[in-house]
Amino acid sequence: MVEAGRRFVLGPALHCRRAQLRRPDIDIAVLASGSGTNLQALIDTPAVRPHIALVASDQPGAGSLTRAEAAGIPTLVLRWGEFDGRDPYCAALADAVEESGAKGVVLAGFMRILSPVFLDRFPDRVLNIHPSLLPAFPGSRAVQSALEHGVRTTGLTIHFVDEEVDHGPIVDQVVVPVEPGDTVESLHARIQVEEHRAYPRVVEAFVNGRLVVEGRTVRWL
Ligand code: GRF
Repeated sequence: MVEAGRRFVLGPALHCRRAQLRRPDIDIAVLASGSGTNLQALIDTPAVRPHIALVASDQPGAGSLTRAEAAGIPTLVLRWGEFDGRDPYCAALADAVEESGAKGVVLAGFMRILSPVFLDRFPDRVLNIHPSLLPAFPGSRAVQSALEHGVRTTGLTIHFVDEEVDHGPIVDQVVVPVEPGDTVESLHARIQVEEHRAYPRVVEAFVNGRLVVEGRTVRWL
């Protein structure tokens, strides 16, 4: 460290070491089937927005596409039914992501399971956000399952995607208490408030090459 007046600044040697540890910045494709409130939180984050090269969806009418278009981000619709199964779909999607220049992928409510045909093209480079504290309540009905189970706290998990559903190395988790009288809608709404804070923070670190996967552990640089 070098003292400059009353402030401390990073010396050149430390700057250099940090740059070596960090991976280079990357652009991302965001995949979103639904209304896209998490996508909107990413668009509204100045450190993330310039890194979004593509927004793709399997749903032609998805709100996420409207949000991307309004922000001037290229969009793509790949309809599930137009492909002969999961692997051809995943191959076409991976081709489109690569063509956009994106080196990483951020799932934001993407309701299709990605096979190894896709994941092997982006190793440790696909992030997902899930509305429960994994490994509790994986799957598409996470909020309802947590309520039905009677848990007192639930929350959200941001993780890298591997071949098992809602399973890969965990980057971040936020706890959300269940309130008396909660419905699926009221609980999901409070989880989403936290999602919109947590996902931009994680995705910013991701595009800046500051997340390193080591087995099941994710190290933040
Ligand atoms: C989020 O709650 C996320 O946890 C789950 O899908 C939902 C997407 O919501 N994977 P939105 O489309 O971002 O509003």
